[in-house]
This record gives sequence, structure tokens and C-alpha cells, in this order.
Amino acid sequence: MNAITSPHDTHDTIRAVQWQGDHLRLLDQRLLPAEERWIDCRDAAAVTQAIKDLAVRGAPAIGIAAAWGVVMAAQQGAALEPVLATLRAARPTAVNLMWALDRMKARIAAGADAAALEREAQAIQDEDLAANRHMGELGAALIAPGSGVMTHCNTGSLATAGYGTALGVIRAGVAAGRIAQVYAGETRPWQQGARLTMYELVRDGIPARLIADSAASHLMKSGAVQWVIVGADRIAANGDTANKIGTYQLAIAARHHGVKFMVAAPSSTVDMATASGEDIEIELRDPSELFAVAGRRVVVEGAEAWNPVFDVTPAELIDAIVTERGVIERPDARSMQALFGA
Ligand code: MRU
Repeated sequence: MNAITSPHDTHDTIRAVQWQGDHLRLLDQRLLPAEERWIDCRDAAAVTQAIKDLAVRGAPAIGIAAAWGVVMAAQQGAALEPVLATLRAARPTAVNLMWALDRMKARIAAGADAAALEREAQAIQDEDLAANRHMGELGAALIAPGSGVMTHCNTGSLATAGYGTALGVIRAGVAAGRIAQVYAGETRPWQQGARLTMYELVRDGIPARLIADSAASHLMKSGAVQWVIVGADRIAANGDTANKIGTYQLAIAARHHGVKFMVAAPSSTVDMATASGEDIEIELRDPSELFAVAGRRVVVEGAEAWNPVFDVTPAELIDAIVTERGVIERPDARSMQALFGA
């Protein structure tokens, strides 16, 4: 079972979303890396809560988890319309959630039973892994041998069905000798970079250094990185891209320093029904998430905070959008339409 079955497996060892036939097992991403604890979700309500609480997170992973939530509801004979609506409302920005639920809804409308819905959820999960592996090859091909890269948030196996989007490009780039050094930003306030990306990179033996989010411009000025590579939660029809808060400032800094900026995401992240980034809803989370570090309050009582957890990078700051359908360089509405139009 541990045999290496493809070249990808040398740099990809985690599966955080695991279907068990009648329930969904999730690796609790709030506790990593201190603790590898698994949660067993036994109904759609538990999956909804896990998505809201960030026990499962990352755009593709929440779509996949939601699809399994629908399967459990069908197995249990629950009314599916309210389940679809509740799951859909769990988080607003990542369109993969709505995309996966729309796929399940279409199968329900076509009369699918629980077994057919199970096959659809499995297809969503399997297709995501395949897309990531293909994107990895496409993205890595853009990077000159021996490059340094920076990434933000966590876009790896934990955030997807496996392998990762931006982290998939990094995995493929490292395997091909194109990437010599990875820098990961901490990603306050949830520290997805510090806790999760470093966990994946260290486990897979990839040369990686953590930086404070505020060190990014200084890093770029030093010449140590040639690409910033990030994932996406929603890509609008003109190429504007919503991703983890802090991505926009990385894109501005990258352009200023002549560093290239790559977005890697499956086509399930592309939302051609949303014209531009202006129309993307940005999730606002509880301000209290900013008041504590590692569970200990560090901000004076009575303080206020503003906690948007995504931002939008305008298409003109993006050098390449890499999807499993192909690469768009310098994206705009026309090139997006050519690849993703009906
Ligand atoms: O709040 P999160 O951790 O769900 O945010 C995740 C991100 O912003 C990722 O960069 C994005 O979902 C792409 S993951 C392949």
C-alpha cells in the first residue's frame, strides 16, 4: 500500500478528507501541526459546522466535503433542498462550495439515488486530484530551473483532494528541479502558512523557510524569489482573483519588484457568472480572531478589529492563471472567455 505509484507521490502524502462509506472523516486543520486529530462527521450539519469553523478549509476541500454532506443526507433520507441551502451558506467566498453543490443538485434533479450521489461526490474528489496534478505540471513549466518562490496561505493536500493547487505547482517544480527554495508567509490570523503549509512542506522534504507576512516585500527586493504562487477562492470572468487576505498586497509588491505572480486553481474555482472582483463577496469573520495568538489574548480588552479574510487581486497584476484546462498569461475578460466561456 505504501508503494510509490506515480512520480507525484514522492511529494504528496496527506489526504485530509476521507469518505468512510457512511460518514466523513476530516483531519482537523485547526489543531495542526500540534495535534493530528480526526473528526468523524456523521451528518450534513456536522459538515456544515466543520466548514464554518475551518476544521476543513481551502476552496476545493470545502466543496468536496459539502458534496459528501449531501451524500450522507441522502443516505439518511433527509430532505435535500434545505441541506443544500445550509451547506451553501457555510462560507461565502470560495465558489468551489457552490460549484460542488450545484453538481450534486443537478444529479438530484435528474433523479439520482444515494448510491448515484456517492459516485458523483467521489468523481468531484477524484477530478480535483487529477486537476491538481495536471496544473502542477503546467505551472512548473513556467518556472526557470533553480528558482525561489513564495506562497501564501495553504493550498496543498490539506486544502484540496490532494497534491494541491499552488502547492501542487511547487511540488511539481521541486520534483523537476525548477524550484530550489520555497518561502511561505505565516498568513495571519489563522496561520495557514505557518501551521499548514510548513507542515506539508517539511513532511515532504521540500526546502522551505517561513517568513512573517510583513517580510514579503523585503524578500522580493532581495532577489531570492522569481515567482509568487498562490491559489484562489474565486476567479471572476475578467480574471480578477479572490484569495486569502494578503494576496493582493503580495501581487502589488511582486509587480513593483519584477517578480512574477501566478494563480493556480482548478476550473471549479472559475466563476464566469461573476463579471469582476467587485462582485465577489468577501467573508468577514469574527474580529476576535485577531485578538489572540495561539489561544492567548494579546490585545487590550475593549479593542475593535476588522477581519476580512479574503481580498481581490486585479487581473492586471496576474502574470499567469494556471488551470487544468490550460494556462492564461496576462488574463483578461477575452482570454478568460476563450478558455472558460460556454
Ligand atoms: O480561509 P481558508 O483557509 O479556507 O482560505 C484558503 C485560501 O485562501 C486558499 O488560498 C484557497 O482556498 C486556495 S486552496 C487550494
